[in-house]
Amino acid sequence: MILVTGGAGFIGANFVLDWLRGNRGPVVNLDKLTYAGNLENLAALGGDPHHIFVRGDIGDAELVGQLLAEHRPRAVVNFAAESHVDRSILGPGEFIQTNVVGSFRLLEAVRGYWSALPADEQAEFRFLHVSTDEVYGSLGADDAPFAETHRVEPNSPYSASKAASDHLVRAWHHTYGLPVLTTNCSNNYGPYQFPEKLIPLVIHHALQGKPLPIYGNGSNVRDWLFVGDHCTAIRVVLEKGRLGEIYNIGGCNEMSNLEVVHTLCDILDREAPRSDHRSYREQISFVKDRPGHDRRYAIDAGKIAGELDWTPAETFASGIAKTVRWYLDNTSWVEHVTSGTYRQWLDLQYRP
Ligand code: NAD
Ligand code: DAU
Repeated sequence: MILVTGGAGFIGANFVLDWLRGNRGPVVNLDKLTYAGNLENLAALGGDPHHIFVRGDIGDAELVGQLLAEHRPRAVVNFAAESHVDRSILGPGEFIQTNVVGSFRLLEAVRGYWSALPADEQAEFRFLHVSTDEVYGSLGADDAPFAETHRVEPNSPYSASKAASDHLVRAWHHTYGLPVLTTNCSNNYGPYQFPEKLIPLVIHHALQGKPLPIYGNGSNVRDWLFVGDHCTAIRVVLEKGRLGEIYNIGGCNEMSNLEVVHTLCDILDREAPRSDHRSYREQISFVKDRPGHDRRYAIDAGKIAGELDWTPAETFASGIAKTVRWYLDNTSWVEHVTSGTYRQWLDLQYRP
């Protein structure tokens, strides 16, 4: 049994689906179901008795304590977070609440549970904290990629709140001995990503005939990783990672935003051509830049490759082709998310 938090979001849902497909044991999935949490992401599980979903907040220490006492997980994998940089700029409060205060309360509940376990279970237990490369700040064009030893220099309310949670996790290990692992990963893409992030937003806007908004001049660089590879890396760290260590995870796929959008347009031109047979590139629109926009992220994934033998299975070409195909084949998922229909069931199910 493991406890996953944020398992109805993009990466968490992919992780839960992969985990259960691999018959790795039951999962308790604790998710607050914010706008980013969508139970339709988990529909493929049907009524799988190995998946126990609980709607709740990682900051609700009493609830977390009850779940831990009842299910006695051997690990907690913490995906729950507010995750969108632009939203953090518009309203940072929720980011501090969930990513900092929520992580603190979760750590305290887990510490209470872990410290009362028998010695053998205590030795086996793991708390894996899923974090981001954004905590390292921004790189210049010629700087070396982020290693785990890079200074922490977050620039947005989102990345500052994630950096704060990483520090708490580190301190709970150093001070209390909590058996923690932290992963700092680059930009993910793949099925079930909420269409407010660049790749699903561009696919959706292209097919809708809407402008494809590119911040600034599109030269900002990100390192893209297929979500399935991130899930594999997390499993590897959970099973083999050294306690208290940080592992950077990346795809070795540095691309400018303009290159990413061009790639998407080219795939869509082949797979779902416009009725006028002109290119989707014509819909590209350069818009006002994101305030404080980090210029470049790049990951040195040498530690996880060398110590734990993990490398990504997908290239950007193979991963992005799968991703576009998934969005073309799952138009009702996109329609439910963009129209808000996915929340109707939620409101019915959880009406006070
Ligand atoms: P997401 O926004 O798609 O999902 C977050 C999930 O957490 C949602 O289901 C939401 O309902 C849930 N949640 C939010 N607040 C909660 C709370 N207080 N209690 C319980 N559940 C809560 O995010 P994602 O893209 O899947 O990212 C998951 C994690 O991975 C985050 O911690 C993020 O910082 C990290 N990360 C994301 C990326 C990326 O490219 N998306 C890259 C590196 C790291
Ligand atoms: O690096 C890991 C991070 O990647 C995660 O920690 C975050 O949770 C995740 O949201 C993501 O952050 P980014 O800000 O890099 O992702 P986003 O998809 O929002 O933007 C990717 C790049 O594309 C970024 O440089 C901003 C740009 N962009 C984004 C949007 C939404 C645009 O040019 N236009 C857009 O409309």
